[in-house]
Amino acid sequence: MGMKDAPITELTLRRPDDWHLHLRDGAMLDAVLPETARHFGRAIIMPNLVPPVVTAAHAEAYRTRILAALPEGMTFEPLMTLYLTEDTDPDDVAMAFERGIAKAVKLYPAGATTNSTSGVTNFDKVRPVLARMAEIGMPLCVHGEVTDSTIDIFDREAVFIDKILKPIRKKNPDLKIVMEHVTTQDAVDYVRDNHKNLAATITTHHLIINRNHILAGGIKPHYYCLPVAKREAHRVALVEAAISGDKRFFLGTDSAPHTDPNKLQTCGCAGIFSAPNTLSCLAEVFDAADALTKLEAFASLNGPRFYGLPPNEYTIQLIKGEPVSYPAQISTGEGPVTVFDPGFPLHWRVET
Ligand code: NCD
Ligand code: ZN
Repeated sequence: MGMKDAPITELTLRRPDDWHLHLRDGAMLDAVLPETARHFGRAIIMPNLVPPVVTAAHAEAYRTRILAALPEGMTFEPLMTLYLTEDTDPDDVAMAFERGIAKAVKLYPAGATTNSTSGVTNFDKVRPVLARMAEIGMPLCVHGEVTDSTIDIFDREAVFIDKILKPIRKKNPDLKIVMEHVTTQDAVDYVRDNHKNLAATITTHHLIINRNHILAGGIKPHYYCLPVAKREAHRVALVEAAISGDKRFFLGTDSAPHTDPNKLQTCGCAGIFSAPNTLSCLAEVFDAADALTKLEAFASLNGPRFYGLPPNEYTIQLIKGEPVSYPAQISTGEGPVTVFDPGFPLHWRVET
């Protein structure tokens, strides 16, 4: 019994952070950076440039380029990562962490995704780096997919958990790990069952699309990303995790811009660009689930908590009204980049 609460039409949140973001470099960086900096305070910056951001010196130089590309009057803090290779030097990693140059190390299994050829094949070779990171409390961000061509692409995350992640965690129980962009019930369950030093990020688009969006009624390259979206039951599990308030799940958009010509070809690139409308999309998802009061935990509180940082001081406001329109594409010096289309109207606008 009892009266239903009046619907929420305004929401004030601590300024959100994005715990997994691709900013690229050069003309693409110039175009996409403001799309994130407009709404987000900080972001964990992916190191998969060509060539990758491998050393502390690379990360420092990339950070300087990002800050130089930031438009006058915007504030944004890039949190840098180092791309783990079989040649990564534990001393360089520790120095980068201690001086605040890098916040995390990124593990790509070799060949798992865009620009991951320098990733790890032999996990024994990176053992000294992982041991050192565990010692100093530096998190490891993992792209959790095996690359074995005999494993079905829809099973690669679940197999990664069993074959790679469990052994790594067993050998390095003190290592803080973020399973990035989780796409399956299996990953959600694994995080829920393992309380120590483990968290997961969830993207905006994986809360919204399932594999039908990519494949039914014609192939839709703009919905293709890695890890590839799975069946509907998995999407539902991700929404449940995101809206649960559980401190181990937080936002990492994996906004990953590619130009339309690079997406729309015989072998198109993986990646969905969601930076411009991510917060409107998330508000819509949380609203539909009657969980708006949990959005701040997911987007603004749980991430900093895991990384040992304070939440942002400033706030943003989300206001519900007539549908907001976002451009279908943004133009960049490298060509047009299509913005994620959630497939439903967005009633929440962001005020900063
Ligand atoms: C990312 C990219 O384009 O850099 N693509 C993607 O589909 N997510 C790489 C990645 O994070 O896997
Ligand atoms: Zn990514």
